[in-house]
Amino acid sequence: MRNRRAALAAVAGAASLALTLTACGQNSEGGSEENKGDAKGGTIGIAMPTKSSERWISDGNNVVKDLQAKGYKTKLVYGEDEPDQQVSQIENLITQGVKALIIAAIDNKSLNNVLQQAKDAGIPVISYDRLILGTENVDYYASFDNEKVGKLQADYIVDKLGLKDGKGPFNIELFAGSNDDNNTKYFFNGAMSVLKPYIDDKKLVVQSGQTALNQVTTLRWDGATAQRRMDDILTKSYKTKKVDAVLSPYDGISIGILSALKSDNYGSASKPLPVITGQDAEVASVKSIKAGQQTMTVYKDLRKLAQVATDMVDALLNDKKPETNDTKTYDNGSKVVPAYLLQPVSVDRTNYKQVLVDGGYYTENDLK
Ligand code: GAL
Repeated sequence: MRNRRAALAAVAGAASLALTLTACGQNSEGGSEENKGDAKGGTIGIAMPTKSSERWISDGNNVVKDLQAKGYKTKLVYGEDEPDQQVSQIENLITQGVKALIIAAIDNKSLNNVLQQAKDAGIPVISYDRLILGTENVDYYASFDNEKVGKLQADYIVDKLGLKDGKGPFNIELFAGSNDDNNTKYFFNGAMSVLKPYIDDKKLVVQSGQTALNQVTTLRWDGATAQRRMDDILTKSYKTKKVDAVLSPYDGISIGILSALKSDNYGSASKPLPVITGQDAEVASVKSIKAGQQTMTVYKDLRKLAQVATDMVDALLNDKKPETNDTKTYDNGSKVVPAYLLQPVSVDRTNYKQVLVDGGYYTENDLK
């Protein structure tokens, strides 16, 4: 009976997702996408940061699908990387009477007032992937081990360059994510915990001299911004030198960095591309990895993240305690937010098939 109901709900879900997607085509950017799933659990509001990156589109779709399967309706909004827009979208969701909110923040510090409104209306809040800072009104955090993401990127550079075998010195440049995203410092600090000893020993040399987090951030994770910074660094610091590795925190940034490098003739026989890291296993980057350009990415299974976040919502709305596996790490300045952290996986040319294709995340066709 249960299975049959679930199957029916899934069919209804698929149909309403199709409706959602159709409606989505007609919506203005950032408009609300509403489904008409089984309403027994009420409506859940989902606020995602941007459609400009493929990952957040998958996140939105996965969360909607999982909530529908659990018997909820959904309202999904995208803030187009504008913090103010996201705040008013969340205000609207509260006014519309959502039962819970799942939020991936654009600016982690901009949501205090609106989350007070959520609290006053008795609406629980799940911080999705990115921790919301400076407010007590965040109930749970669903994410990945973000420090490990940075460590995996840095470990890859260390291995690939043979630093543990004493090779070097090599030139490296460092990039970090958006300074208003709490994940940025976790990724960067994780990576630097591995790279710093080599930088101190001059086995890794940052020719630009830009090693502090506030010198290497990339507002809104924008690839074009990263491309301009890389262009600038190549012009100023690499006229007669070659860059051997670039720490990049995210695939969209890696693609921007690659463009700058290619314009400077990297990728030719006399000037091989440096080791370039990434994150999210976005299609363009996996294709680039297959083609021997970007070197690696850190894969985070977004299907699992959606499952964790929607399980949290379902538990909270049924007076149960959501499952957590970390109640220490994520202090948001007002409280330690109980978290469930998933494990990221390092992916390169040698294992992308096994991890991404055999794991059902992509088909070979997606990556052609
Ligand atoms: C981070 C997220 C990364 C990446 C980045 C840019 O918050 O953890 O996986 O997606 O944003 O969108």
